[in-house]
Amino acid sequence: MALGRKTLISGVKPTGRPHIGNYFGAMRQFVDFQDEYSSLIFIANLHALTTEKNSKQLKQNTLDVAIDYLAIGLDPKKTLIFKQSDTPQVAELAWMFNCLTTVPYLMRAHAYKDAVAKNEEVNAGVFEYPVLMAADILIHDSDVVPVGYDQAQHIEIARDMARMFNHTFGEIFKSPKEIILEGMKIVPGTDGRKMSKNYNNTIPLFATDDEITKAVMSIPTDSSTIDDQKDPEKDNVFALHKLFSNKKELAKLEEKYRKGGIGYKESKEILVKNISTFTAPLREKRAKIAQDKQSVLDMLDEGGKRARAKAEEKMEKVREIVGLTLSESSL
Ligand code: ADP
Ligand code: TRP
Repeated sequence: MALGRKTLISGVKPTGRPHIGNYFGAMRQFVDFQDEYSSLIFIANLHALTTEKNSKQLKQNTLDVAIDYLAIGLDPKKTLIFKQSDTPQVAELAWMFNCLTTVPYLMRAHAYKDAVAKNEEVNAGVFEYPVLMAADILIHDSDVVPVGYDQAQHIEIARDMARMFNHTFGEIFKSPKEIILEGMKIVPGTDGRKMSKNYNNTIPLFATDDEITKAVMSIPTDSSTIDDQKDPEKDNVFALHKLFSNKKELAKLEEKYRKGGIGYKESKEILVKNISTFTAPLREKRAKIAQDKQSVLDMLDEGGKRARAKAEEKMEKVREIVGLTLSESSL
């Protein structure tokens, strides 16, 4: 990590295979920005505990995300890659934030409200989710956080936490800003809702060709025939073409949609081919990396040590400013 650069942080929960929504909404930016920023990318395994209670599964998913990160092109020489639980200081900092925030404030968080609306039994971890996320971000003096649109409110909460803490104890935390790519705000899933691991509507980033075909062919379309004029903006297949076609191809497709002359079946076949062409090299790279588990574990170990040292350095200052540290000179 080069000195003098702004700091970038982000993470993904180890809760299942990443999909193209995760990739275009967030993960690709981790790679695109790794030369420009001093980057920290972690595996949010503490956040995953809100839903994952199977330890074997959590371990496997955690290793999988590490492999995914390397497969998409994160370079451990440029980006500090680690698992969240290797910086337990974030839980300590989250506690401090908890003592500054109010219950009604956290009750306004979308993720919590959604869970309540679904009549789910909400554990306290879900309620506290944004507080821990604020700690992840603020502990490393992060300037920017590349995420998908659904995470925007969480970054806003992190800014609020920084403001509250600074106001109460003195200037110590930076105010972070989200980076959300226009046009990639919400990648739609095969059913038209936001693509999400929770909805069973994903196209996994490292899917096999068969899986890609199955997912794309399952996208519902209207009953227009080949010759009918179609509105591309109302078609989910077209929405996905936007991610995988160059401008010229997309313009051609749009024209065919608008004038008539392409059926949904053909459109889907083109999409399958384009997704496969785009993802095949990533898939191959992933398979290679997965063969050497030990190197991945070593990389995570090393990253964890460095991230922990960095977090601890910050927390020493935080503990002092809050009044937890005792020394003769500070009394
Ligand atoms: P999921 O909803 O599938 O569980 P995560 O919560 O693990 O996804 O999200 C990981 C990252 O990917 C976050 O930054 C999130 O904002 C982004 N992301 C997830 N789904 C989408 C989507 N459909 N479109 C754009 N970004 C997304
Ligand atoms: N909440 C994020 C997600 O669902 C994961 C996450 C946890 C995160 N802590 C973070 C993202 C800090 C960015 C910064 O994807």
